[in-house]
Formats: sequence, structure tokens, C-alpha cells
Amino acid sequence: MLIRLYIILGVYAASSYAANHTVFKTCTQVGVCNRLRDMPSTAQWTYIKHNVNGDNTLVTVKLEIQKKTYSLFIGLLENHKVRLQLKDTSRGAKKRHEIKDVLYPDIPKSIRITTEDDDGFLTIVPNDATMRNHSVLIHKSPLVLNFTYNDKTLVVLNSSSLNMSYDKTIRDIGFTVKFEDAQKLYGLHHHAYNLELPDTTLKTVNGSHWNEPFRLWNSDARDFEADSPMALYGSVPAIYGHSKKSTAGIFLHNAAEQWVDISYSHGSASARFMVDSGSFDLFVMLGPKPEDVVKQFTDLTGRAHMPQLWTLGYHQSRWSYYTKEEVLEVVKNMTQNDFPLDAIWLDIDYTDDKKYFTWSKNFTGEDGNGVRQMLKILGDDGRKLVAIVDPHIKVDENYGVYEEGKNKHFVKVKDGRTDFVGKCWPGNSSYVDFLNSAARTYYGNHYSDNSFNHGHPEVLAGIWNDMNEPSVDDDQHEWTMPSDNRHSSKGNRKFDVEHRDIHNMYGFLHTMATHEGLINRDKNGTRPFILTRSHFAGSQRFAAMWTGDNRADWPHLKNSYSECMLSNLMGHVFCGADVPGFFGDPDPEFSYRAYQAGIWLPFFRGHAHKDAKPREPYRYEPEVQEIIRNAIRMRYKYIPTWYTLFYEHTLTGAPVIRPLFYHYPGTVNRNDHIMLGRDILARPVFEPSNETKTIEVHLPGNPPDFWYRVDDKSSKIIIAGTTEIIPYVDANTSPVFYRAGSIVVLWDYDVSSTAETVRSPRITLYVNCKDDKNHTASGRLYHDDGFSFDYENKNKHLYVDITFTEETGLKFEEVPEDPDQDSEDMKIYVDKVIYNERNSGSTYKSTRHEIDVDGNLFSNIDIVQAIRNDKELVYKLTR
Ligand code: GLC
Repeated sequence: MLIRLYIILGVYAASSYAANHTVFKTCTQVGVCNRLRDMPSTAQWTYIKHNVNGDNTLVTVKLEIQKKTYSLFIGLLENHKVRLQLKDTSRGAKKRHEIKDVLYPDIPKSIRITTEDDDGFLTIVPNDATMRNHSVLIHKSPLVLNFTYNDKTLVVLNSSSLNMSYDKTIRDIGFTVKFEDAQKLYGLHHHAYNLELPDTTLKTVNGSHWNEPFRLWNSDARDFEADSPMALYGSVPAIYGHSKKSTAGIFLHNAAEQWVDISYSHGSASARFMVDSGSFDLFVMLGPKPEDVVKQFTDLTGRAHMPQLWTLGYHQSRWSYYTKEEVLEVVKNMTQNDFPLDAIWLDIDYTDDKKYFTWSKNFTGEDGNGVRQMLKILGDDGRKLVAIVDPHIKVDENYGVYEEGKNKHFVKVKDGRTDFVGKCWPGNSSYVDFLNSAARTYYGNHYSDNSFNHGHPEVLAGIWNDMNEPSVDDDQHEWTMPSDNRHSSKGNRKFDVEHRDIHNMYGFLHTMATHEGLINRDKNGTRPFILTRSHFAGSQRFAAMWTGDNRADWPHLKNSYSECMLSNLMGHVFCGADVPGFFGDPDPEFSYRAYQAGIWLPFFRGHAHKDAKPREPYRYEPEVQEIIRNAIRMRYKYIPTWYTLFYEHTLTGAPVIRPLFYHYPGTVNRNDHIMLGRDILARPVFEPSNETKTIEVHLPGNPPDFWYRVDDKSSKIIIAGTTEIIPYVDANTSPVFYRAGSIVVLWDYDVSSTAETVRSPRITLYVNCKDDKNHTASGRLYHDDGFSFDYENKNKHLYVDITFTEETGLKFEEVPEDPDQDSEDMKIYVDKVIYNERNSGSTYKSTRHEIDVDGNLFSNIDIVQAIRNDKELVYKLTR
């Protein structure tokens, strides 16, 4: 078949608010931080001897300090990683808790090594000469460990900074890691702060008094401030040290409370960790590029599986929609007002008296059929429902879930016998002990209750796990449970683990239980969708996360970009923030700017506090509705790109959204610029127009590379490496750029939900020529059934390279790294090709050609050719 087609040429005022600082402690009020912050090195660690195990995969170094002996275990892992474990081996030493389940089950095993021991140095290198570019060089006295890549030291651990308490009650650990080459440190997610970690040892940061280390202690940080080091809901104890030359990282595999001081000095940077308890288990990742470190980190902590396609659409939530009529009314209004929508959310008030897995009469109705009817209507309309299920269980003798868990599956108080009771939404509640696998099963099984699903699990398709830091209404314990509460690591037999040792992974374990429950409920036929507030390293394997109870104001909006870009660098790709913000009644300008920004975060949900005025998109004035509608529609257009990037994350751990330095090492980071993959850069408006009338955009790269501006009709080209000042033309201005040389795939038409497109997606290809002489471009596209695990278990997916040259035209070919794909059933229809080229002779302008391909069906066996002759561009489709 040969088809010839011809070109158709064609004022928000900040209110006074603050987190409750009488509840949340500062460094000086917390033992571990107070003890270790400025601890002078009093005693010296002495190297005694070392040995190598039988299969040459582990070096054990015997150390001594103040007559106590310790063992330092060192293993080299594939792909430039090192694992260090320090254990107290003196007689009578109390065993430290070692966390389980956080590392990906398939973490690479230690590789075979060779040691060289001379002149006061011990060197550990891989046996295999092809892997020799990473090594550990130990200077014995004083004891200093150097982690090197290609003979260059990137990370240093000096024993003079190492404290490891052997006291029976105080179990703290302190150490300092120096990143030799780094100009910037990134990491320690989750804080509402800029991406780059500031020097916390200075008295002032950004002109204000600070002098507090970053704290990792998962907290229900109600009304948290923007630009602050205070602990928020999640913790990822990892840091990347970055410079133009190299990037290296560390990950502390420990879920206890941590405080971290950051300091910079001439050409290097360091991080001082102060850890309350648990064990010393440190991974060093030697990069050397940002993408290598992210890959190394996700080798260790795992990657998210594909999301269902609908989860990438727009979600509408509010605390709360109180009746089934209200739910259906909101959906109807969204539809009637042409706002695309995939899911409607139910907050705590859908339950019968905050008893999870039950429904209030407002939903069931008198005859008990209300939920079933509501789910049926939503399902027929192509929408999904997401319901909240928290980890606290109401103490109520008439509540089956409580009765079943009582004295068995709940966290205990210090005595290890009595169920802990704390206050949360339902009043007195017990908390499921998710460390215990039997308790996880008990909780997870309730997702299959028919009294919960009402026969429509395919519509009740997502679960929201909240308050899982865990949140307890108790000022004395910083709104969480006491650290000396007890969990059981071995079924129900013995409550042997103190809460302090696993605090930061309680939310992780909660989502693990929910994930398992949904997998069982859906007989492994559907990819679970879970949103969690609390999270830890590795939570990406089970859940999406959002940034929690933000305020609808400009500083929080801006922080949402750095929070989610950082979470993306640390494995948690599916991140979003409440749009336009949880607290407050924002003015229209702020609201539409928040929507314009929100579409570029992977998870996109409108949500509001119960005291906020109702603010679903259709409640605004018509002009504002129109701007918000355009933003949400724009989000839907990019879904093929989001989906492709999520697939690439499953393969390599690559972030979906990226800061500039990810592809352009050394570029000064801009917290308000976001890259969607490698090829799209968005720079929404984060300033009210009464304060500034322009937007500054920095386009990364080096000339002669350039970027096409695509959100308006200016046909502007902006040279890479330059900064451009763009005026706000109107309320719709929210600049977007495509990298010259890329092919971007969109659904370039309006839909009411993803359900409309999933069966026969029609795409538009934006071919963005590299430059005026070289009309080449390339991109990738992924597609599958949108919901099942067949993409992985049976390889049923399509993943193609799309390339364009003038000689060959547009070509679709299987991505070589993914050769076994079974794309037989995958159908993609190409609607249009938009061809952007730089005007020859013009530095700053481009021309756009639109080619109507009219819904031709493509699969990976098809070839589209575009032949350019003097006058026109001719596309050919051959099969
Ligand atoms: C927490 C959540 C918020 C939710 C509220 C009621 O504050 O962060 O999103 O609406 O609880 O469940």
C-alpha cells in the first residue's frame, strides 16, 4: 500500500499560618541531634586485620575503638555500587535491628573481588578487569575509606567522624560523608524546599535564620511551611553529590529518625548524618553521571510498575463528597462543562463512622444498593472511584475489622502485650502492625470484601492510604506513636521490634499490605493504584505519593516542583501536589496558574480541605473555567508521552520529570523549570502578575542546539544555553518548549476521559527538526492494554523508535533493547504529523507544517516515509 499525502500549510495575599512548632521538635530538643551535632572526635578507630570470605565476595575488617570490637563488611556490587555494614561484635553487644523488605528482592549480589594490602593501604577492586573502574581504597591509620571511580575519589568516609554507640539504651550512629568533587548536594526527600540542599551549618540561609539540620522523621506536618527543613511525611535517606564532572550518591538503609547537616567548602560538600537507632548499612553509588546514580539507586530500591492509563488523567477530590448524589453531581457537572475527568475521590466521610472497609448510609441508601448503583453509573461513564483507607482501626466491639485484629494484629505498647490505642479520625483507634506479615494479610484481605467493593472492583479501582506516618493525635509524641511501642517481626509470636527502628517505613509497609490486597482482589489481573502520603525508599514499587497538606499559595506551589523532581530522582516517579492547594481559598489567578503548573507533575489531582470553599473547576467564572479547561486538556494531550516515560522508568529507573542538570550536568538548577523526559521543557508561571509581568526561562544545552517554543503562535526558536525573558501575554501563557531533534507524540484532540482513547489511540507526531541543514529527529512511543500486567508477564506491548530523516521519512521500528515485544494486538492510528523546522537563514524563527494523515493505522510493521521535494513534503505509508 502506498499513500501520498500533501502538505496542508497550514492576588493572592499570604495569610499568616505556620506548622505547630510547639509540637515538632528542633535539633536541640532531640537527644540524638543534640549529642552528635558537634561531637568532637575523642577516640580513634583502629584497624586490626582483615579477611576475605571463601568465594571472594566480602571483605571483613576488624576494628577497635575504646576496647570494643566492630566488624566492617565491605562488598562491591555490580554497576559501580559498594555496600558497607558496620556491626558491633563485642561480647554482650545488643543486636541492632536490621530492616527488611526495603531493598528490591533482586538487588545485585556482591561481585568477586581482589584485595591488595601494602604500605598502610588496603585496596578492594573487582576481579573482573572489565569492572575495574570502581574500587575502595582504605587508608589504615588514621582509618579513612575512599570510594573511587576511574581512580578518582568521589566519596570519602573518614573514621574521625564516625560514632556508633554501644550503650544499651542509646543506640545512635553518626558519620560524615564527603563528596570530593561535588558542588551541589541533592536529596533527603521529603522537605518543602528548593532542590539543592543548602548549607545548614551557617547561621542564615537565604537571609533568614536557619541553623537547623534537615530531619527525616515521617510526620503529619499539618500546615507545613514552604521553604523549610522541617520533617514532612516521607523519608528517603539518600544524597547525590553533583558537579559538571561527576555525580555520586549514598543511601543509608535505615528507617529510624535521622538529622542531616549539609556543608560546603571549596569544591567539595559533605553531609553529617545523626541517626537515632537501627543499623549502619550504607550503599555508595559511584555514578558517574546523574542517570547512572539514579539507575544504581533504583537497582537497590526497585522501580514502579506501569500505572494504569486512567491514573494519568485528571482526578477530582475534596474532603469530602458526602453522598452518592453529590459524587454523581460533581461528575455530571465536569462532563457538562467539558472538563476531562478520569477519577472521583472519596475522603473519610464515605465510611460508616470512620470505620474503613464500611460505607455510610449516605452511600448505601436504605436498601443497601446505593454503592452498587453509583459504581455502575460511574463505570458506564468511563470513570473510576478512589476511596481512602487509613491504617488506624476504630476501637469498637461491633466493628468486625477491629474484632478480628484485636490482640493479634495491632501495634503494642512498650510491654509488648497490650494493644496500643491512640486517637485519630474515629477517636480511639488501634494501629495495624504492618511489620507483621500476618497483619498485612489480615488488612489486605479486606479489600476483597464484597461489602466494600459491591461487585465493582474494576470501578472502585484505586485506594488512598493516608495518615500513615503514622498520625496519632498526641502532642507529646509529635503527632505520632511513642517510639517505644512494639512491632512483631515474626508473625504474632513476639513483639520484638521497637517502633523507633522502623518509624520511617511504617507507611511503606502499609502500602505493601494494600498492594498485596489489591493484587489478590484482582487476581493479579490489574495493576494496583494506591496513593500514599507517607513513604520511604522503595515505596515506588507499591504506590504513588503526593506532597500532602500544602497551602494554596505561591511558595508552596513553587516548592511542589522541587519536591516532585527530587522524588523522581529518588525513585518515586508518581508524585503530585494538591491542586490548587489543600488549605485556603485562592483567588482565580492563583487557581488557574496552579492548574497550569499541576499538569506537568506526574500525578494530577484537584483536592481541598473541608473548610475551603467548593472549587471544582466548573465553579469558577467562565473565563477562568476556560483557562483551567485548556490546562486540563493539555494534560490529556501529553498522556502518550507520560506513558512512554513511565515505561522507560520500569526499565532503567529513569525519572519521568527531571531537573535541568539531569541531562545537562553542571547547569544551574531552576526550581521552576521542569523537564518531561529529555525533550519537553515547561516553565509555568509561579508569580502573580501584580508583582512581575515577565517570566525568565533558561533553555539548557549548548549552541548551536536550540528549542522550539510550542505553547503559542510565535514560532520562536530559543538558542540552548541562553536565558530568555518572556512577557506574560495573557492568562493562558505557560511556556513549553521542544528540543530540536526530538519527536513528541501527543493525543492532539479533546477527550472526556482516557477511556475514550484506550482502545484505538490516535496520535499526532511533532517532528522537531534538529537544525536548518539537518532535518532529522527521533523519539519513542510505548503502548499497551492500559491496565494489566500482560505488558510485563507476556511482553504484550509496543515500544518503538520513531525516526525521521529526509531520505527515509518517518520510520517506526522496535526499540532494539526491547526485542521480545509482542505487539500484535497493539494498534495506533496516526492522525497528523506536525513538522517544525527552523527557517533557513533565520536565527529565531521556525515554520510549522501540518500533514493530515487521516487516521491511518500503524503498527511496528508499517513505515511512513516523508519525501521532501522542492515544493512540498510528501509522506508515504508502506506496509
Ligand atoms: C489529611 C490528608 C488530606 C485529607 C484529610 C482527611 O489531612 O492529608 O488530604 O483530606 O486528611 O482525610
